[in-house]
Amino acid sequence: MSESDNQATSILLPSSKLAVYSKDPTTLEAAQGLEDDWRFARVRIAGEEGGVESAIQVYHEISSPDLIVIQTDTIDEGFTEKLGELAGHCDEGTSAIIIGPDNDVNLYRKLIDMGVSDYMVRPVSTEDLAEVVAKALIEKIGVTGSRLIALTGAKGGVGTTIIAEALACGVSDILGQKAMLLDTSGGWSTLGVGLGFEPSTTLDEAVRAAENNDEDSIKRMLHNVDERLQVLATGGDVMLEDTVTPEQFEALIDMLMVKCPTVIVDVSHSPAALQRCVITRANQIMVVSTPTLPALRLARSLIQEVRQVRGGDHGEVSLIINMQGQAASSEVSKNDIEKAMELSVAAYLPFDSKVFLNNESESKKLTEDKAARDIIDKHLLPLVRKHLAAAESSEQPEEDGGFLDGILGKLKKKA
Ligand SMILES: Nc1ncnc2c1ncn2[C@@H]1O[C@H](COP(=O)(O)OP(=O)(O)OP(=O)(O)O)[C@@H](O)[C@H]1O
Ligand SMILES: [Mg+2]
Repeated sequence: MSESDNQATSILLPSSKLAVYSKDPTTLEAAQGLEDDWRFARVRIAGEEGGVESAIQVYHEISSPDLIVIQTDTIDEGFTEKLGELAGHCDEGTSAIIIGPDNDVNLYRKLIDMGVSDYMVRPVSTEDLAEVVAKALIEKIGVTGSRLIALTGAKGGVGTTIIAEALACGVSDILGQKAMLLDTSGGWSTLGVGLGFEPSTTLDEAVRAAENNDEDSIKRMLHNVDERLQVLATGGDVMLEDTVTPEQFEALIDMLMVKCPTVIVDVSHSPAALQRCVITRANQIMVVSTPTLPALRLARSLIQEVRQVRGGDHGEVSLIINMQGQAASSEVSKNDIEKAMELSVAAYLPFDSKVFLNNESESKKLTEDKAARDIIDKHLLPLVRKHLAAAESSEQPEEDGGFLDGILGKLKKKA
């Protein structure tokens, strides 16, 4: 697997179901080991002692999971026929991975041709299984190569939204890459002020368009800041009403991530359920705080919670300290912040009304201001540069209709 493939599978995998059928205890142990891999926190894994026959029996009665792994000792006509029978009992879109006895290129090609996602040779380790399963799941949901960055504030007003805008402008203007920015705050959104657009839609309309796979409506809801940066122009929502559900928002993210390699979501001033949904799903999380005690105390708790919802993973949590110098005498030192947080400060941004508040009030893109551009380039882009370079070089997934399609196609060809 290439460097970029590995990068692409280093994400928290989407909620999904995986079943592993094997008579080999080593394989079942390897499957069980996936539960300790942070990427699989939301994948429900079932290890079943048995082979293709058992799977046929089970999915004759209950609906099939997103991905089935089947180990077999023999791969002959009999097995491929049974695989066809299994496909007949599976739900549309179910994918399959086969673990077999031999390293045989022709056999590999034959199975892939049948619509099987991958073929592995026994014995398989947890590590190998994790990579192949992660790749298959990502291909199925179509997010390979896209990166989701979530920004959350330890406290209200610490600058999360303006930093999300700054990052989005930096990715598009300085790194020259396509980016999309959206927020989860509904009627509380201030993105329109900073980036100079009228909120023309609501979160409710946007998730409905995503549910209906309505590309045209989504296109109309996107405001083009420039040729590389688009913002979802929500904000017309009623401020004192509940907004969308996490499931609805996740469907919207799925749709946007297929369109754009970098999706930045500002979750400040948003319902906890939506914050949690984006934070769980994101490849990278930026927690914004000021260097003052009340904000830092919340930042510490928030970072702990973020780690919990991500199954203990904290590799991709960056702490940004904003507004340094605003209240110098009450600020906590960098050393003390890092000790208390057990985390290095990833970026320090100065308090500078001219750079932030003035440009925001004038709806001026931050990268058009020399001082703001320098701050973005020096402090924010180093947090994303490496990952975005990897995302850019990885391929977009092919459409995958599951192995049912492949096998049915083959059966039709035969007839
Ligand atoms: N480093 C800074 N220097 C000066 N002003 C700043 C700085 N960072 C943010 N601001 C200003 O502070 C105000 C609050 O920022 P912003 O709206 O981004 O905060 P927020 O954390 O998203 O707030 P909310 O919790 O309401 O979502 C804005 O007017 C912004 O321009
Ligand atoms: Mg905000």
